[in-house]
Amino acid sequence: MSTSRRGFLRGLAGAGAGAAATGLAGCAPDISPAPVLDASKDGEGLVQLEVARYPDLSREGGAVTLRVPGEQPVLIMHPGGDEYAVVASTCTHSGCPLGFQDREAICPCHLSRFALDGTVTHPPARAPLKKYVSGFNASTGQLTIDFAAGDVAFPAVVGGKVVLPFSQFPQLQTVGGVVQGTPRGYGRLIFVFALDGGTYSAVDGLCTHQQCPVDFNAAGQQLVCPCHDSRFTRSGEVTKGPDTGGSIGPLKQFPVTSDASGVTVSFA
Ligand code: FES
Ligand code: FES
Repeated sequence: MSTSRRGFLRGLAGAGAGAAATGLAGCAPDISPAPVLDASKDGEGLVQLEVARYPDLSREGGAVTLRVPGEQPVLIMHPGGDEYAVVASTCTHSGCPLGFQDREAICPCHLSRFALDGTVTHPPARAPLKKYVSGFNASTGQLTIDFAAGDVAFPAVVGGKVVLPFSQFPQLQTVGGVVQGTPRGYGRLIFVFALDGGTYSAVDGLCTHQQCPVDFNAAGQQLVCPCHDSRFTRSGEVTKGPDTGGSIGPLKQFPVTSDASGVTVSFA
C-alpha cells in the first residue's frame, strides 16, 4: 500500500481525469483531492487498514482516496478522534475526485460539498455520494471498510445467487412489479423487474456514465440517473445519454430464472 499525490494524479485516468485537471487549474487552489492509498479486499469484501501507518489519514482532518481492485474509489475521511466516514470519492456533478476539509468532502472543480454521510450540502452537485459501511476499532487502531455490505432486509448472495421468494416479494408475481435492494456479498444496488410473458430482468443500479445510483421512475417505467439524466429501460438498455454529452453503455445485466416459488438472480 502507498499514499502519494503523485500516485493520485497517475490514477486520475479512471476517475474523471480531464474534468479534474481542468477544475484544479481554475477554481480552488486551497482544496486538493485526497492522496491515494491502494489496498486489497479479502474474500469477504473487507478492507482493513491500520490507520497509524498512514499519516494522511491518521491526522485529525485527514483523508485518503482508497483504490481497491474491482471497486469504485472511496474517500476515507477522519474528522477527528475515533470518527471515520467513507463515501464514494468521485463528485456526482462531473466526476472530479474529492478532497476533505472542515468535516465535508469538497470538490475542487466547482466546489460542490457533501456531508460525512454523502448528502449534498452545496451545489452544483444534486445527487448524494454513496456511503460505505465502516467501523473503527479504537483498541487495535484498525479501520474496517465493508465493500460487500447489503441491506439487512434484502436477501444476500449465497452460492453466487440471490433468491427472491414470492412470499417475501409478491410484487414479482405481477407484470410491472419491481424489487430493489443491495444484496450482502454484492454490495451494490440492483433492480429486478417482472416483465411481460412471465419473464424477468435484473440490472445493476449504478449508471455506466459516472457511477451514480439510478432511480426507478414508475410513471415512465424507466431507470433514471439523477446525476446527468441518463435513462435506461428495465432491461438496462440506454434510451437517453447524459446531459453532459457523449454516449454510455447499458446497465450490467444479470441472468434471471424463476419457478413457482420465486425468482433467482445469478451473480456468477
Ligand atoms: S465536478 Fe463539478 S462540482 Fe464536482
Ligand atoms: S452518472 Fe452521469 S448520467 Fe449517470
